[in-house]
Amino acid sequence: MTADLTASALPGQPFIAYQGSDLRVEGVRLADLARTHGTPLFVYSKAAMLSALAAYQRGFAGRQAQICYAMKANSSLAVLQVFADAGCGFDIVSGGELARVLAAGGDPAKVIFSGVGKTRAEMKQALQVGIGCFNVESEAELDVLSEVAVSLGKQAPVSLRVNPNVDPKTHPYISTGLKGNKFGIAHESAVQVYQHAASLPGLKVVGIDCHIGSQITDTTPYLDAMDRILDLVAAIESAGVPIHHIDFGGGLGINYNGDTPPEADALWAQLLAKLDARGYGQRQLMIEPGRSLVGNAGVCLTEVMYLKPGEQKNFCIVDAAMNDLPRPAMYQAFHQIVAVSPRQGEAVAYDVVGPVCESGDWIGRDRQLVVQAGDVLAVLSAGAYCMSMASNYNTRGRAAEVLVDGDQAHLIRQRESAFDTFALEQLVG
Ligand code: LLP
Repeated sequence: MTADLTASALPGQPFIAYQGSDLRVEGVRLADLARTHGTPLFVYSKAAMLSALAAYQRGFAGRQAQICYAMKANSSLAVLQVFADAGCGFDIVSGGELARVLAAGGDPAKVIFSGVGKTRAEMKQALQVGIGCFNVESEAELDVLSEVAVSLGKQAPVSLRVNPNVDPKTHPYISTGLKGNKFGIAHESAVQVYQHAASLPGLKVVGIDCHIGSQITDTTPYLDAMDRILDLVAAIESAGVPIHHIDFGGGLGINYNGDTPPEADALWAQLLAKLDARGYGQRQLMIEPGRSLVGNAGVCLTEVMYLKPGEQKNFCIVDAAMNDLPRPAMYQAFHQIVAVSPRQGEAVAYDVVGPVCESGDWIGRDRQLVVQAGDVLAVLSAGAYCMSMASNYNTRGRAAEVLVDGDQAHLIRQRESAFDTFALEQLVG
């Protein structure tokens, strides 16, 4: 097999393309970025993020809809800035994420606060800056939130996350809308919990929400969940609690390896048709997409350090590891790996692995590559849940990040030094 040197965009990633034998993000050569900033290095395309966002915006044209980027997918400040400038709100899950939204210039009124375990301090912080909505996941949390709001002389806007009990047919660790998950309020108890929420002095019921899972590539679970949610809206409203907005969560998948998720606008055309048919088409809508906005906007550059042929396996040892790219180790996730400047030659099957001392530290298995030590590889679809899940395991400083905008490359995060990783620690005595 020979390396493919044709000029072409990578599947599902129109802003990441070979020009001649150079892989570029928009107008910038990745080989140059690796040389200037070192590896491992995350590189993101601003145009790819905005184009992914535009698909949702097209889908919602003429509707009342707020897109709240689920920033856990990638919470780097400059990434948040791109979405804030484009009018997005944010779906947050911690006080730390709220602090990031504010630091990036996001509007707190467009923030929704999700998650099963908000602390009193986080509730207070969010109430003080005036966030748009708390997505509450249990009765116990409703009581605490009401207490905290009353103590501040405020009313907290709340939506209950209900569990529609549909199977999103994705990896078990990232499916969240089934009965056995820790998330949400059971469909059967929702009306009663809404009545309880409406009776609490510190709360103002504003919406309903659900989130059934992540990396969903099929439309059916979404349509089923929508039916279940609309049934509930009808039941809750006839029990005397008005529902202002419907938040449909996130979860739309991306193409990692030939996956064929629906386009955001096509998915929403179907969901809106259902909303219209059932008389809810003019309600305020909210969504919380994460991966589908950033996943295919980013790559991780990594240098080949050593080739280690073996009897059973050949290993390609690179300088990125499971602390930089945790998805393969955690979910057996597949990320394509390509050469930044492909060589001609016979491809050899390698397991691409990092330097961390764990057998689980692999980035890709059985990949056909034409490589030599010193070559730079690009791990694709690395814009979501990579940097935001990176750790310092093995006292490895986290990677640097670059945001490309046209032919400009902006360093948006410096590489962490070893000193940075232990700067907050102290010796005893
Ligand atoms: N809203 C809520 C309440 C969520 O829990 C999530 C993701 C989202 C929105 C955004 O979902 P997305 O559109 O990104 O699918 N680390 C895993 C994914 C975990 C997803 C957690 N919740 C991975 O790397 O696949």
